[in-house]
Amino acid sequence: MILDIKQYGEPVLRRKCDPVEEVDTDIRNFTQDLIDTMIDAEGIGLAAPQVGVDMRIAVVDVAHDPECVSFFKVAGEDANMVDFMPLIFINPELELSGPREADSEGCLSIQEIRAKVKRPTIVKAKLPQIDGSVLEIETDGLLARAIQHEVDHLNGILFTDRVSTTAKARLKRQLKDLGNTKWERR
Ligand code: NI
Repeated sequence: MILDIKQYGEPVLRRKCDPVEEVDTDIRNFTQDLIDTMIDAEGIGLAAPQVGVDMRIAVVDVAHDPECVSFFKVAGEDANMVDFMPLIFINPELELSGPREADSEGCLSIQEIRAKVKRPTIVKAKLPQIDGSVLEIETDGLLARAIQHEVDHLNGILFTDRVSTTAKARLKRQLKDLGNTKWERR
C-alpha cells in the first residue's frame, strides 16, 4: 500500500519516535508499505514518521548506484551492497566515524529544498531485521549518509537542521513559508 508522505511543518516529523517492542504482522506489513512508498516516490530512504507513524523504523535503498559506496561489510566481511537492498531497520543503533564531509541532501518531506550537509563519512550499524536477526553493517558514501539522514528522522531531526549557519539563514524564509502553508492545505 502506498502511504501519504507528510510534509515539512507536520508535527509528527518533529517527534522522537518510540522503539518497536515486538515485530508482529502489523509491523511487517507496515515495513513493506514503507518500502513500496519509498519506491513509488523514487526516494532512496524513508522513515516511519514521514508517513505519520512515530516508531523507530526506516528503509533505505541505494541499489540504483552500486558505486556509491567504496566498501560494504556485513558482520566484518566484505559483501555485495546491492544484495542487501532495500535495507530495513527497526530500532537501529549507529556508530559514526571518519572525517565529516559535506554533500547535497534532499528529503521526500521537504521536496522544494536541497542543501549541503556535513556528516561523518563512515557508519557502523546494528540493524534489527523483521525476522528478528540483527544485520551488522559498515559502509561509507551515499549509503552511510542516507542511513544517518533516516535515523535523524527517528529523532525528529531534519537535514535542514544540520546545514551551515549561512545556509540556514538562506533557507529560513523558504522553510517558514513551507511550515506555515503546506500541511494546513490538506
Ligand atoms: Ni528525509
